[in-house]
Amino acid sequence: MDLYEYQARDLFRRHGVPVLPGIIATTPEEARAAAQDLLDGGAGLLVVKAQVKTGGRGKAGGVKLARSAEEAAERAAAILGMGIKGHTVRSVLISEGTDIAEEYYFAILLDRAERGYLAMCSREGGMDIETLAAERPEALARLPIDPVAGLTAEAARRIVAAAGFEPGRTADGVAGVIERLWETLVAEDATLVEVNPLVLADDGRVIALDGKVTLDDNARFRHPDHEDLVDASSVDPLEARAKEAGLNYVRLSGEVGVLGNGAGLVMSTLDVVAGAGEGHGGMRPANFLDLGGGSSAQAMADALSIVASDEQVRAILVNVFGGITSCDTVAEGIVAAMGALTGPAKPIVVRLDGNSAELGRRILRQADLPGVTIVETMDGAADAVTAIAEQVGRGAPEGRRAPSLPAPPTAAPTPQEA
Ligand SMILES: Nc1ncnc2c1ncn2[C@@H]1O[C@H](COP(=O)(O)OP(=O)(O)OP(=O)(O)O)[C@@H](O)[C@H]1O
Ligand SMILES: [Mg+2]
Repeated sequence: MDLYEYQARDLFRRHGVPVLPGIIATTPEEARAAAQDLLDGGAGLLVVKAQVKTGGRGKAGGVKLARSAEEAAERAAAILGMGIKGHTVRSVLISEGTDIAEEYYFAILLDRAERGYLAMCSREGGMDIETLAAERPEALARLPIDPVAGLTAEAARRIVAAAGFEPGRTADGVAGVIERLWETLVAEDATLVEVNPLVLADDGRVIALDGKVTLDDNARFRHPDHEDLVDASSVDPLEARAKEAGLNYVRLSGEVGVLGNGAGLVMSTLDVVAGAGEGHGGMRPANFLDLGGGSSAQAMADALSIVASDEQVRAILVNVFGGITSCDTVAEGIVAAMGALTGPAKPIVVRLDGNSAELGRRILRQADLPGVTIVETMDGAADAVTAIAEQVGRGAPEGRRAPSLPAPPTAAPTPQEA
């Protein structure tokens, strides 16, 4: 999960990284009040900063200075609602400003290829760091960090020296902040901590003026307090429902809903569906959904209901390989789920293989569920479901929901079932 700058700054503050006071605002009125609070608290300069989870805010006009509450409100009015790289600005951070002597860059990120972390530091930070990294990579010092040893005080001094800081008060200040940033990364289970710019203020302090933090979602269970950082407005509602039901669901951009048991099977099903779709109007997978190992009737019902309620889904492929959970259990799950489904009905193609596949297919045939087509092979099933999705797109009858509705759509017959 990526954090907003103001959330990153809150974490920094908690771990002793120097940041300037700031207050979040979602309207010009709130911005005015926040600015007044900061001015009353002794701030001489204010900065109004767009809060969006993307870079390049300054260049897009999303970071503006202000000297009065009135000016802060005007700046906020101009920035709120602005689009930055496809992200709409819904809040602004009203921050105390500072006079800047120098701007540096510092980041620590998880380096999966090297099975460690990588620290990067430059004396030439600011809004053109991407250009610097591309054109003068030598100006960006890089130092691998052993995850077990961690970023020690000694390593912090080495990074700072490698970036070209002369020994002295500023170098010590930057090294100290780097140690605190490492502490933030470890304590909060982050995979990225980036500060651009890390500034030397006119009064000699080293301050993090900006912050980008990515938290490791796999470590979320260790951080109940991180739940507060989730931005409800940016969470996909279907992904949220799936998470609550304990399903692994990722929304994609195509038309064919895909359900399977086991991440590997679902991944390969996505490929096969995309391949088959090339022959059927370019139909593509609409999602990844792994039912998990159990594939209980409840999981099947939840999964079918989530995938079916995705408006872009025209047809659904259920691809299950019976292992510990046999296909008859899965088939019974589908029958039960179909009875309980609400919302728009979608045609479903089912492919069962493995443990008790034949029994599973027999259960489905006997249930005679409207809108359900049984296909024995993965390729055949992918072909059938993409053909149906293409037809639905052309205005052919939608699939139907059991039990009240008549025959399935006239889908391309499959070799096995025709
Ligand atoms: N509190 C502040 N006081 C003074 N100047 C600031 C302050 N915050 C930001 N600035 C100035 O604005 C510039 C851009 O700010 P910031 O780094 O937060 O946004 P950005 O780099 O454009 O956005 P992103 O990091 O998302 O690409 C900084 O490089 C700095 O010069
Ligand atoms: Mg920045």
